[in-house]
Amino acid sequence: MSKIHIPRWLTSDPPGWEIDSDVIVIGSGVAGLSAAIHARAAGRKVVILTKAQIDEGSTRWAQGGIAAAMSEEDSPSQHRDDTVTAGAGLCNPQAVEVLVTEGPQAVRDLISLGANFDREPSGAISLTREGGHKRDRIAHAGGDATGAEISRALVSAVVNDPGIEIIENALALDLIIDAHGATQGVTLHVMGSGQRDGIGAALAPAVILTTGGFGQVFGQTTNPYVSTGDGIALALRAGAKVADLEFVQFHPTVLWLGPLAQGQQPLVSEAVRGEGAQLLDPDLQPFMHSVHEMGDLAPRDIVAIEIMKKMRAFGAAHVWLDGRALGADTWVRRFPTILASARSRGIDPVTDLIPVGPAQHYVSGGVVTDLFGRTNIPGLYAAGEVACTGVHGANRLASNSLLEGLVYSRRIMTAIEFDQPERHTGVVGSPQDSYLVPHRVRRDMQSVMDRNAGVLRSEASLTHAKNWLAKIERTGARACTEDWESANLFTVSQVLIANALMRQETRGSHWREDYPESSTDFEVRLVSHRSPHGELVTTTSGIGI
Ligand code: FAD
Ligand code: SIN
Repeated sequence: MSKIHIPRWLTSDPPGWEIDSDVIVIGSGVAGLSAAIHARAAGRKVVILTKAQIDEGSTRWAQGGIAAAMSEEDSPSQHRDDTVTAGAGLCNPQAVEVLVTEGPQAVRDLISLGANFDREPSGAISLTREGGHKRDRIAHAGGDATGAEISRALVSAVVNDPGIEIIENALALDLIIDAHGATQGVTLHVMGSGQRDGIGAALAPAVILTTGGFGQVFGQTTNPYVSTGDGIALALRAGAKVADLEFVQFHPTVLWLGPLAQGQQPLVSEAVRGEGAQLLDPDLQPFMHSVHEMGDLAPRDIVAIEIMKKMRAFGAAHVWLDGRALGADTWVRRFPTILASARSRGIDPVTDLIPVGPAQHYVSGGVVTDLFGRTNIPGLYAAGEVACTGVHGANRLASNSLLEGLVYSRRIMTAIEFDQPERHTGVVGSPQDSYLVPHRVRRDMQSVMDRNAGVLRSEASLTHAKNWLAKIERTGARACTEDWESANLFTVSQVLIANALMRQETRGSHWREDYPESSTDFEVRLVSHRSPHGELVTTTSGIGI
């Protein structure tokens, strides 16, 4: 097999300015903002770098809610069982235990910070159900605007803190590493004005990576435009271990906008099925109850795959979601965002069937961390969707990701207090070992990934995608946001395909048509890193990592 070379750097000019802090947080979603708040509580000076506006990222788009065992009928152990079942044999049991036992307090702390969740007339938090959950345990806000409310509460807390500097339009490029192999900060490009414009260096002995997912690897995704896998790519280039990238979750019910739709697509939350909506095949027949005991609320991978099977069998571009029985009042009260989004496209869910199909939604893998967010690079910590704690295994349970961002970002500060990372001088950039990918290939790259590395995969399709990527010319690129992002998308795609080829089985959200069964040989994680010579090396590891 041909080897994959990963250059050490993105091509850029050397830094022309510097800033210095105790802690640098890269990203301003639920994980980044929470990490910043905890670092401040520990008395650290914090700089938040974020590539667009402070509230951009997947967090603010989250609909269904946040899962935690908050009711008397529920318990962390039941939440654990549902998480592990959805994870299809690959969840790290210790990581799940942390999530489910620390989750309820993390949600209560978020409420103390000012987040308003929907409540019952009794004052108790309203809880709903989503795919794979055997209890009502999803807390939501504004009906289906949970992420927007969480983002609002966290942003208000950081913008009013004089110990936190926020730099918007700041694209982190590469990690600065010292002679001991430890992180000392990050190079970045700021589209600003005055002294902080162009390429700079943000220096600190502790860097917290919270850059979210990589939905934009695919042509159709629920993720916003900032989700280009930058954090995974930059960590990998610096020598970090990444795992489980083949486990890309495709959300089953994304509003179908036609065959030419590209980029971020409108989600129709699983909570709509939680309130009683039903999937129908192109002949308008319900089909999930004959497939799984949980029917329309089976874990997400199972529903997405069944929808794909129906679409293939009927030669149809989508299936239908029937939410008419919910009635106008429930739609207005529980799902105002989805209702407005569908109506703006000429579909009225109160009276019409909703055309839906799967689209990329979440990556279960990422930068490998321990239970305190430590990566294998000293001084580099990671949390949220960019990280792989092992909580999600081969398939994330619905609404566990906002919770993971809250729980694990808090633990990072415990690690930093213990590790006491030291300041040293780091090394920046070398044009000999750098790369860029011209953004004009991005659209084609996404189509190739959609067709060959999407919900359905095979040796032939993955090999086609691998060979196609290998031919991408790197000429014609210039150092700019679009080309840096395209290089990151390219690197993430290469690793995803390498893992998907190696994993010769079907498990969770990884569906190999040529290996339709799960295999005990693959009850392992595939962990990749860049060797000192720049080669991608992938090894297997136990599920506890
Ligand atoms: P994000 O919120 O994506 O934030 C990443 C941040 O990093 C952004 O600020 C981004 O601008 C910044 N960034 C990225 N690259 C760089 C760079 N190079 N330099 C500087 N900054 C950078 N999960 C649930 O639990 N419940 C739900 O109901 C739910 N619904 C969802 C609905 C939608 C439509 C989507 C897209 C996701 C949903 N999810 C849900 C998943 C969940 O929202 C995300 O997994 C979670 O918000 C990720 O948080 P994060 O902080 O890790 O990343
Ligand atoms: C949804 O509301 O269906 C998304 C929930 C999630 O991704 O966790």
